[in-house]
Order: sequence, then structure tokens, then C-alpha cells
Amino acid sequence: MLIAGNWKMNTDLPSARALAAGVRESAADAEGVEVLVCPPFVLLDGVYQILQGSNVKVGGQTLHPEDEGAFTGEVSAQMLRSVGCSHVIVGHSERRALFGETDEDVHARVRQALDNDLVPVLCVGETLDQRRGGTQQKVVAEQLEKALEGAELASGSDIVVAYEPVWAIGTGETATPEQAQSMHAFARKWLKDRFTDELAADICILYGGSMKPHNAEELLSQDDVDGGLIGGASLKASDFGAIIEHAVHLAG
Ligand code: 13P
Repeated sequence: MLIAGNWKMNTDLPSARALAAGVRESAADAEGVEVLVCPPFVLLDGVYQILQGSNVKVGGQTLHPEDEGAFTGEVSAQMLRSVGCSHVIVGHSERRALFGETDEDVHARVRQALDNDLVPVLCVGETLDQRRGGTQQKVVAEQLEKALEGAELASGSDIVVAYEPVWAIGTGETATPEQAQSMHAFARKWLKDRFTDELAADICILYGGSMKPHNAEELLSQDDVDGGLIGGASLKASDFGAIIEHAVHLAG
């Protein structure tokens, strides 16, 4: 089970450090649950200083596909590694919708993460129109196909997949546990066909989209839901802590 917080463009250095300290405390005896936080780039180092030596991991929210060079404003895999990151979110729907990231961009970033020993947290998910049109499986299959083209994984822990239905992100509207399970099972089957049964069984498939303390238990108890990628509720240590607690009970 993996509980991950995507802080998006929120907090500043003092509040990020305070939040990290709260998460560190919540995660102190979170047996069987991996905890990850993904703060904004400029706060990574400050947050890592608080979390170093704890069992909370740190990740970036995206990365540039090149190693280095004249890419003003961008951040490389090596930079992320140098400030303690083990993970990086790739292909978040906000990156796709607001910053024009294409499936090809997502593919290049997944490859760059894998080549640099960063675990990509690959986000996939359909829009409301796509769900209304009944194409959610096709959309997710295509996103997986393109992002993972040519990828070779040594183990299931090399990558994390996050199913984030766009219509549930930041809207307060959550996929029902049945909707989440059905899409997660679909993604698992896709991963089995693409890799091996064993490897696919070990890949964490997270649910993201308005996961909150009050609905986390039901979502996390679904067979193919291996954790959560949490936005809003990861910004309050007590809410994030409550979700971690649900995960610990279910993992135990
Ligand atoms: P919310 O939990 O705020 O809906 O955000 C989900 C998300 O986008 C995590 O990456």
C-alpha cells in the first residue's frame, strides 16, 4: 500500500516544513504502508531535510526528459535525485491539460525517470466526456500503451500507476469504489498482458481524485486499489494522517 500526497502549487517553505513534520509523525508507525510526499520543486530540499531518516519518501511533480541544458525553468532527473527524491509524478492530468503535455512527452519523461532510478508515478485517467461516452477503458489503455512503449521493468516496484479520473480531481466528486475497482482491474489486466502476471501483481495502482478521510477506507479496500494519490487532503497533516491510518488498518 502506498499513500502519496501531491501538494501541487501549494504551501511555502515554512508551511511545507511544518506539513512535512506532521506527515513524518503520522507515518512514524505506519507499518505495511509506504508514504510519499511530492512538494513543489523549490521546497523539495527543505522538505527532505525534515523527512530524511524517516520512512516518508519525497518525489517531484514532473521532470524534464533531457539530462541538462538550455531549458529555462525546467528541472532534471539528476536535480530531483540530488535533493532526495525517489519518485516523480509523470503525466498528471493538470500537466496534460494546462501545460500541453502529450502522450509522447509523458513517454519521454517515464523513460527519463526509469533511466535515472526514479520511480515514475504515471497518471492516467479519462475526462467526464470520455466517461459519458463510455470510452474510459480505451483512453486509459492508450495512455498506458504510449507512456510505457518500449519500457522494460526489472520489478513491479520500478513504477507506480495512478488512476485519476479527471472529473474527480479537485471536484469533491469521487469515483465510487466499484468504478475505481473496475478501472483498476482493467489497468492490472493491461499490465499483465504487457509485462508478466507476477510483475503486474507487484505494481502499485493508486486511486486519485477527491480521496478524503471519509471515503478512503472504502476505496482502499478494493482488491486492485493499492493506495492513493491525494491532492487537497494531503495539505492538512491531520487529514493525510487519517488516510494513512486507514491504509495501515487495511494493510495489517
Ligand atoms: P484531489 O485529491 O485534490 O482531488 O487531487 C487529486 C490529484 O490530482 C492528485 O494528483
